[in-house]
Amino acid sequence: MRIAVMGAGSIGCHLGGHLARQADVEVTLIGRPAAMAVVAEKGLTLTSGRREPLHVSPDRIAVATEAAAAAGADVVLVTVKSDGTRAAARELAPHLAPDAVVVSFQNGLHNAEVLREELPQRTVLTGMVPYNVLQTEPGTFHQGTGGALMLDDGAPGAPLVAALAAAGLRVEARADMRAVQYAKLLMNLNNAVNALSGVPLRAQLGDRSYRTCLALCQREALAAFRAAGVTPAQLGAVRPALMPRLLRLPDAVFTRLAKAMLAIDATARSSMWEDLQRGRPTEVDSLQGEVVALAARHGLSAPANARLAALVHEAERASQDGGGRAWSGPELLAALRAKA
Ligand SMILES: NC(=O)c1ccc[n+]([C@@H]2O[C@H](COP(=O)([O-])OP(=O)(O)OC[C@H]3O[C@@H](n4cnc5c(N)ncnc54)[C@H](OP(=O)(O)O)[C@@H]3O)[C@@H](O)[C@H]2O)c1
Repeated sequence: MRIAVMGAGSIGCHLGGHLARQADVEVTLIGRPAAMAVVAEKGLTLTSGRREPLHVSPDRIAVATEAAAAAGADVVLVTVKSDGTRAAARELAPHLAPDAVVVSFQNGLHNAEVLREELPQRTVLTGMVPYNVLQTEPGTFHQGTGGALMLDDGAPGAPLVAALAAAGLRVEARADMRAVQYAKLLMNLNNAVNALSGVPLRAQLGDRSYRTCLALCQREALAAFRAAGVTPAQLGAVRPALMPRLLRLPDAVFTRLAKAMLAIDATARSSMWEDLQRGRPTEVDSLQGEVVALAARHGLSAPANARLAALVHEAERASQDGGGRAWSGPELLAALRAKA
């Protein structure tokens, strides 16, 4: 099986690296020149709190910087950030085999739609990565949380599901990927809270003020989903509709009830935090921005999400100028409530 990964950053290198360890899978990573030079020299190191580090030697994995390298791939995993999807699809279009299966392993609600628009003859599937992956040093990617990858059920995705499982990754084929994406969006509303907090996920989720910020965002999102007739999938032990109430519980009670949610490496942070550290644009418009737009389409407002998106955009500008600040939980909550 030949697999190309378009957009080899944290998720692309994590998935591509695991798949490349299989003898019957050939992986080509397509990414930026500096990142690909590191992989060509050192290969990849894949770490997680749960097992020994895995190393993928450079001779097990091909690297490229142009979409032409996806020619001949049976499966193309798209792992660029949402704002790069259309450009990536246009670059891929002239090169993909007619029967190539394209899989979006991105957050946000519209990436598969964009891929279908730009690649009308190809089969495009929706995937979902439930956990967090960060680059800890060049060529090393750390998985900080757990969960099963999810992918559209059916014949086109079945070989990939089998390859991911054979590579030791937990994976589920699902018939309800649209509902899964909405559930993931609810979880991803925490990315902005975490990015602005400046503290690791476990400490941030252990703090009631930060959790209340997330609860405000989720409550607005759930109201917009209801108005749109959407029911998010239940991905964990708690029904999505109950999450805002759970998040607001006092720290001691939350810590006891939400053990699974807090089973996070002590150093893990959201990839939006990493984007701010590196002065890169974030995906907040595909997360908080999506909730604001959906609410507006149904005559609702989503002020906490709008305010959080504005604060992240301020932080993007500050980080590009080499600055930025960390928000304490009470400060962030006051800022959201001021508009809410
Ligand atoms: N990281 C996580 O923990 C996580 C977890 C679940 C889901 N996700 C989702 O997975 C997707 C990818 O996230 P990520 O964290 O892996 O992002 P990332 O680390 O920024 O990786 C994307 C990489 O693709 C490169 N790229 C963009 N357009 C390209 C093109 N046309 N050709 C070649 N390379 C290109 C980017 O370079 P530039 O930066 O120079 O554009 C970047 O190096 C996002 O939708 C994210 O929300 C991430």
